Amino acid sequence: MNDTWEKLKSDCADCRLCGLCETRRNLVFGVGSEQAEIMFIGEGPGEQEDIQGVPFVGPAGKLLDDMLSMIDLDRTKVYIANIVKCRPPGNRDPQENEQAACRQWLSRQIKLVDPKIIVCLGRIAAKALMDENFRITREHGEFRDIGGRRYVATYHPSALLRDISKRPEAFMDLRGIRKEIRAVCDRTYR
Ligand code: URA
Repeated sequence: MNDTWEKLKSDCADCRLCGLCETRRNLVFGVGSEQAEIMFIGEGPGEQEDIQGVPFVGPAGKLLDDMLSMIDLDRTKVYIANIVKCRPPGNRDPQENEQAACRQWLSRQIKLVDPKIIVCLGRIAAKALMDENFRITREHGEFRDIGGRRYVATYHPSALLRDISKRPEAFMDLRGIRKEIRAVCDRTYR
């Protein structure tokens, strides 16, 4: 299939592949540079994201913006998406069947962006994209090669809001991500 952003966005716009479509206010597709060399992938929209239709615009999003700026990035230099595109009611974890139904949209986004590095924000994204047995407390910050791309996970910004004792480890992960960007990306810091 010769995919295009236009086709993907229109295919995804009215998605009814899982029950989350019943309760969503807006589908939250993704934001950022469609030519980014680095993608950040969260778990699913929260309340503010559901209202605005944009990922990471609530409190966790403010922290994500700070995390990006710590390594000289911003939303124009990266692409940000989620494992599921519609808000799980009450911010519960997205269920396996919801993640599976939504996967085709994210896979097409990843193919179209074609990033060198994928950063999984939190356990849910790391389990879905890196390894179903991924242990975030043990394996955060470790890069892996998967399908020709570099993958790493760090703590989800919401986890860092709940537990500030994890922030120094997340900061070390970000430093590692900056180093990796310098090593494998051509345009991001130019
Ligand atoms: N948490 C996520 O995982 N994604 C968002 O878009 C917002 C909060």
